[in-house]
Amino acid sequence: MNDRDLAAAALALLHGNDVGAFIKPARLQYPHQWNWDAAFIAIGLRHVDVNLARRELSALLRAQWRSGMVPHIVYHAGPSDYFPTPDFWRTSGRPHGGAIPSSGLTQPPMATTAVRLLLDASDDDDGIAFARELFPQLLAWHRWLHTARDPDGTGLVAIVHPWESGTDNAPRWRGPLAGLGEVDPPAYARRDQRHVPEDERPVADDYARFMHLIGLYRGWQWDDATLWARAPFLVVDVLFNAILIRADADLAEIASRLDQPHDEIDAWHSRGVRAFRERLWDEERGAFLDIDLRSGKRPAADTWVTFTALYAGVADARQAERMVDERLRAPGRYAGMRFGLPTVALDDPSFEPRRYWCGPVWINANWLVARGLRAAGYPEDASRLASHALELTRRAGFTEYYDPRDGSACGAQGFSWSAALVLDLLHDPDGV
Ligand code: GLC
Repeated sequence: MNDRDLAAAALALLHGNDVGAFIKPARLQYPHQWNWDAAFIAIGLRHVDVNLARRELSALLRAQWRSGMVPHIVYHAGPSDYFPTPDFWRTSGRPHGGAIPSSGLTQPPMATTAVRLLLDASDDDDGIAFARELFPQLLAWHRWLHTARDPDGTGLVAIVHPWESGTDNAPRWRGPLAGLGEVDPPAYARRDQRHVPEDERPVADDYARFMHLIGLYRGWQWDDATLWARAPFLVVDVLFNAILIRADADLAEIASRLDQPHDEIDAWHSRGVRAFRERLWDEERGAFLDIDLRSGKRPAADTWVTFTALYAGVADARQAERMVDERLRAPGRYAGMRFGLPTVALDDPSFEPRRYWCGPVWINANWLVARGLRAAGYPEDASRLASHALELTRRAGFTEYYDPRDGSACGAQGFSWSAALVLDLLHDPDGV
């Protein structure tokens, strides 16, 4: 399939997943709107249909809570066959909640970066007006993140549930999830294995822990202060903070183009960069690693998120070189399979090539890391990841994730961000 046909197929998939008010992440598996999916979708669409890209982001921000939080799942059209259903979250009627049924969790603020990239692509009157409309909402979201999720002003925010990272069952959550001890989840019935084989989805024990946390938080009425004080899962996530740091820089840039003050945003950014370098780098392991705030421990698992420090622009030259030499290019770790980038190191005991965030290649991971590598002065490694992403989608279609051994399709079929980011890679190859 040539580039033109691939782009046409990607756009057709996004149109097929368009439900009118927004584009769903996958044909069957994910029928609602998800937070960072909306951002990746808009990033790809900006090259071909900027109005549709804007609609995606506006729809997401309509679900913003009064507190500033932007939820990770938005049920614009009410319940479907997807679980958790809107009522499972018990978010409705909360004084700090939103007007549209939603989950009570958030996701990495990729949407801010999407707005910045949209503005770069079209800074005519309409483009400026769009950024002006969304700017106060983005600012409120970042302010919420930097206060509710970092009340001590350390510069790094914490997440209260693995789903907030967007990498639901990554092996780096095993320690923090084991720390919950015996769990007592509310009654639930999984529906995530109807369209996707069981061995490509989270294991039962992880899922029970996800549910247990939701049960606790809904019992606490999703109150931010209570969550901070009592959440048994409280983790400073490398991925979330990398995306936030980059988003803070993008928010400051949007503000300056709109002639808005940005001192507060600049302060978040510089504090975040400093804290990320100081607290998340592990000199012995040569990687950036999460911190479990409840146990003080770092995860044992070796996962791809260390490379997102390059995307955030926080790694110094020596740290970047160590990550690239000792990990990215090291056969048996992140190199040596037919397709990169595995989301878990091949020599890590938790590596499973087809199970969700435990090893498969994800197009958004390749996209984030490729951008980081190019910015850090590794253009060939960046191009390799970008071309693997294109080759995977050419061979196996736009699926949720891919087996690094042979590139075969895993997870949900007809997956929107795989298509959208392919559009971005085809239109802006030097962007990554
Ligand atoms: C899964 C992914 C998450 C994504 C959602 C919708 O939960 O782990 O990152 O946002 O599906 O695609």
